[in-house]
Amino acid sequence: FTIDWDASAAEKGGWDSFMDKEIHEDPAAVQRTLLGRFDDSGAIELDEVRIDEHDFKAIDKIIVVACGTASYAGQVAKYAIEHWVRIPVEIELAHEFRYRDPILNARTLVVAISQSGETMDTLMALRHAREQGSKVLAICNTQGATIPRESDAVLYTHAGPEVAVASTKAFVAQITAAYLLGLYLAQVKGTMFRDEIRQQVDSLKDMPRKIQWVLDTQTAAVEQAAERMANAQSFLFLGRHVGYPVALEGALKLKEIAYTFTEGFAAGELKHGPIALVDAGEPVVFIVPPERGRSVLHTKVISGIEEVKARGATIIAVAEEGDKDVQRYADVVFWRPACPTLMSPLVDVVPLQLFAMNMAKIKGYDVDKPRNLAKSVTVE
Ligand code: G6P
Repeated sequence: FTIDWDASAAEKGGWDSFMDKEIHEDPAAVQRTLLGRFDDSGAIELDEVRIDEHDFKAIDKIIVVACGTASYAGQVAKYAIEHWVRIPVEIELAHEFRYRDPILNARTLVVAISQSGETMDTLMALRHAREQGSKVLAICNTQGATIPRESDAVLYTHAGPEVAVASTKAFVAQITAAYLLGLYLAQVKGTMFRDEIRQQVDSLKDMPRKIQWVLDTQTAAVEQAAERMANAQSFLFLGRHVGYPVALEGALKLKEIAYTFTEGFAAGELKHGPIALVDAGEPVVFIVPPERGRSVLHTKVISGIEEVKARGATIIAVAEEGDKDVQRYADVVFWRPACPTLMSPLVDVVPLQLFAMNMAKIKGYDVDKPRNLAKSVTVE
């Protein structure tokens, strides 16, 4: 009597693939990243800080260095941090950074975001920043990796080990950690009242439940959409504000694992070029902002949808539950539960991760090990 023991199947915890398992860990990744961050008075604490409070107070610019998915997490965080802390936040692809003589000084905080903590491009960028006298804070998912070891401060994302090459749960954890950093800086620099910080933290704490709602209620719609679009040759992804980096990440996921040609654009750019690509049947994915609050953005994205719809495109929308304009124009909708605009990337990326995975599965590809890619790229 023997039992077949497949170690890898056991590690996948009953899921078909690591990617499947890890997407379903998105809610837990956010939740764990928020855990134990607050002292008794409710103030935010970082994991390891070798920067004194006086230096933190003096910071007048942030430059995020990262590659791939991590860079899009940084791009999302720019919107929140600039809004909360009122200092400029630049995003730079790590491999471009040190070769262009960036302006750095002791008042610049360089934030290196990396799931693996071993990406050579990001490591070289942080070394360059420190040589120029800037402080470096790492947002990393791997305890004790080279990038956090060489940084002046660390904020760990507690997403748990990520095995699938294409990053999923680490992305939502990176956004969460970068938001915590923003709120920490707002606290140190006094740019927000305690109550305002607490309100944002409460919104963050609400997100795991909302992500779970997406996983529970939208998976079937995503699977159907993937079946329907499996033969599409290319996709455009469009978004504005925080929806823009989400569009870039959605496009990257589909490229990485389904080998489909995709482009992500800021939706406002549509009329400046990309609309020339839109033809009958072209699938265009729109990240639609909530109707409330920033309704100007909502109106503008809807008019973009009308423009491409008039040219016969197939519209896939990620939108807030009950959005009537979206209902009217979209061929396929992945719904999000209502949430503040700044929090929306944490839910909006989830159906796009699922969509890429389903497309790849339908085409018969190995979703965990896409061709030509490595989980951590340790060469420059
Ligand atoms: C590789 C992976 C990507 C990842 C990027 C950055 O290219 O294939 O999924 O986003 O590296 O990795 P890091 O570990 O630094 O976040």
